Amino acid sequence: MLYPYKDNETIPVILDGDPGHDDAIAWVLAKAEPRFDIRAVTVTAGNQTIDKTSLNARRICTLLGIDAPIAAGRERPILRDLVLGSVFHGVSGLDGPKLPAPAMELSELSAVELMAKTIKEAEKPVTIIATGAQTNTASLLLAHPELKEKIAQISIMGGGLRTGNWNPAAEFNILVDPEAAQYEFHAGIPVNLCGLDVTERALIYPENIEDIRSVGNQVSQIVAGWLDFFSIHHHELGYKGAPLHDPCAVLSLTHPEIFQGDDFEVNVETQGEYCRGAIVVDFMHRNPEKENVHCVMDVDQPKFVALIKEACRSYGDREVPVV
Ligand code: BDR
Ligand code: CA
Repeated sequence: MLYPYKDNETIPVILDGDPGHDDAIAWVLAKAEPRFDIRAVTVTAGNQTIDKTSLNARRICTLLGIDAPIAAGRERPILRDLVLGSVFHGVSGLDGPKLPAPAMELSELSAVELMAKTIKEAEKPVTIIATGAQTNTASLLLAHPELKEKIAQISIMGGGLRTGNWNPAAEFNILVDPEAAQYEFHAGIPVNLCGLDVTERALIYPENIEDIRSVGNQVSQIVAGWLDFFSIHHHELGYKGAPLHDPCAVLSLTHPEIFQGDDFEVNVETQGEYCRGAIVVDFMHRNPEKENVHCVMDVDQPKFVALIKEACRSYGDREVPVV
């Protein structure tokens, strides 16, 4: 069910996320992909409040040279109070290495307005890479159902087919806005879902971080610094390497050959006392006609790390002053 890209195709892309260390590294990979033409960046609340994730987005785009309008989304999920992921990402939402001051302002449009404008104006269907809660993307689909046919696919980091990370049942991005995810999974557009099954195999070990740092340019130094910070709480939890969740939502599109997955019928539990935000997957393929989500489940970790290193190297001598 993955939307097939051709080798030399230009692919219009919207990046939607709550940066966030792993969101930031996902954006490093997206900007480095020669086929991707990043047309807009939209921001969600999650890893931190919307003011902080929006500031982080502007600083990351300045660092990487992403020249696209950036718009902030809602302050909170569609129906629920916001849950913050700051335990992994720090007070700023992107603690660790110094970053450039933002070179651009936020768009006057809301995230949904900017997404809609970008999709309407695009000459072909747009790919959305959504690495936070699905608040913006579901709001877009609710407000503009007529644009569905101009969405090639939405690649999401979210869920865990058999487990959670924020509680025993639920993964953070789905837990933050479960209604949004459930709506989106049933909106009739192709969904590529990278859950914990794959992301907890996309581990970055301390020696991998040193390997990335050894590239020696500014982007590699900052990526290594982000990985150092992102590893701290994971190591406290007993992980030997940090799971690089959000980069899977990019690389499973650009390098599907290093991933494995399957199509399933997927639903989100929105009501449960213990399982709210859990995803429910029909592994038995009982209703093939209802299979709505391509679930990515495994990755070749050494190749995954090599692609991150290569992406860092592709920024060459680009250097932006930091503050
Ligand atoms: C997800 O939660 C966030 O903290 C990360 O950025 C990632 O998108 C992992 O559960
Ligand atoms: Ca994220």
